Amino acid sequence: MRKKLVAGNWKMNGSLRQNEVLLSDISAAVPGLTCEVAVFPPYPYLAQSQLALAGSGVALGAQSVSEYTQGAFTGEVSASMLAEFGCRYVLLGHSERRGLFGETDAVVAAKFEAAQKAGLIPVLCLGETLAERESGSTMAVVARQLSSVLDRSGVGAMVSAVVAYEPVWAIGTGMTASPAQAQEVHAAIRAQVAVLDAGVAEGLCILYGGSVKPQNAEELFGQADIDGGLIGGAALVADDFLKICLAAS
Ligand code: PGA
Repeated sequence: MRKKLVAGNWKMNGSLRQNEVLLSDISAAVPGLTCEVAVFPPYPYLAQSQLALAGSGVALGAQSVSEYTQGAFTGEVSASMLAEFGCRYVLLGHSERRGLFGETDAVVAAKFEAAQKAGLIPVLCLGETLAERESGSTMAVVARQLSSVLDRSGVGAMVSAVVAYEPVWAIGTGMTASPAQAQEVHAAIRAQVAVLDAGVAEGLCILYGGSVKPQNAEELFGQADIDGGLIGGAALVADDFLKICLAAS
């Protein structure tokens, strides 16, 4: 049986002082949980988070990574640097990276490969816009985004990767996909991987993200192919985040 994962994407939020409280509240509650818990702070706070989470069982992740390994790439952060600061995970292809910063499927696939080469577990984010859903192309969009990684890295790469289905129209809007809508896409993602390798598909952790709250988490996580959540807004409030973790436990 797949273990559930709840991941907190802090986005560009936080401060040394705010993080201190949030990290300590989360670490204190984790011994009572059976799901895996991970937090994704902004780059400058990785060192603070690594220290604060040491020995807690809470995993650390970064929100993006460079596709390059080192050199003259001003503003970029390499996968080996993230590994040095204790990161286990890295988010890739989040819709804000794709939409606001022009990350293409090809760039996301290159970053996926760079992350794995450094021993990080990529959390590959996939999802359709509202216009794409309304035009009936949800499945095609998600399949195309997933294919670009499968084509480049092969299905074996999915053994040490996580997928997050995040409908763009549900992110930060308060509009959650219904459990049935989410389950339909999760099942399609797993089926696409299963065509290449049924065993890999069965073990693949697929998170749902997009306005997950304490009120809707349990029903979402109860779906057959939903293995946890990628949480944005609610991950900044310890009480809400921990209630979501409890729903996954
Ligand atoms: P949200 O964000 O929970 O605030 O909708 C989710 C995400 O962007 O990962």
